Amino acid sequence: MIKFLFIGDVFGSPGREMVKEYLPKLKEKHRPHVTIINGENAASGKGITEKIYKQFLESGAQMITMGNHTWDKKEIFDFIDDAKYMIRPANFPEGNPGKGIAYINLNGKEIAVINLQGRTFLPPIDDPFRKADELITEAKKRTNIIFLDFHAEATSEKQAMGWYVDGRVSAVVGTHTHTQTADERILPNGTAYITDVGMTGPYDGILGVDKETVINRFLTNLPARFEPDKKGRAQLNGVIITIDEKTGNANSVERIIINEDHPFFS
Ligand SMILES: [Fe+2]
Repeated sequence: MIKFLFIGDVFGSPGREMVKEYLPKLKEKHRPHVTIINGENAASGKGITEKIYKQFLESGAQMITMGNHTWDKKEIFDFIDDAKYMIRPANFPEGNPGKGIAYINLNGKEIAVINLQGRTFLPPIDDPFRKADELITEAKKRTNIIFLDFHAEATSEKQAMGWYVDGRVSAVVGTHTHTQTADERILPNGTAYITDVGMTGPYDGILGVDKETVINRFLTNLPARFEPDKKGRAQLNGVIITIDEKTGNANSVERIIINEDHPFFS
């Protein structure tokens, strides 16, 4: 059995603080073999820096996945090609730096992690479904344990991906919407699925952003600078997924919520 801990979109410094405080506690409680963090919002809500990437690895993550904010911090162009444990959506157009699939070596057993991005209500990029076919074929030559972070806005597109790859990958976790969904399940052919893992960061903001700014935007329609909320409380959202290493199928998927309304119990 291989146990994965996946931490949903880490948003700004409130999210990074939650990772620092609770990742060791979660590791002690659940003892995951593999920890993956979506870090595309880790630097002030937009993008990631090399320092944060390294902090995540030091805090015990083995892979960092990204999304539509991948290129927001321009310094990423200086380090992404050397960042062995960072993947960005594989269906970004040809010529983009970085990679969309990477492998973790777990005591001699390889684990493939794939990052894809949806196209509904997001910029037009290459087809994530055909890209999934291509990468699953590639990964299957090396391993039957395949973990997919599908960074997408529309629930329908995420559900479509779940059903499309059911039985061909071990898990599909949705990211990007910042609101955890309660639809976690094992699909009939063995793939663990959740539409969105949720967000790790401000609990009292609007999708992580300072709430007054967002409310004012709705009231006035004026452009505004969206900053992470630092006045309120923080939260951590994630999932724990267990996978049978012989079959590559999932055995269980369990949501993790840590906030003042759902305190952490060791
Ligand atoms: Fe996103």
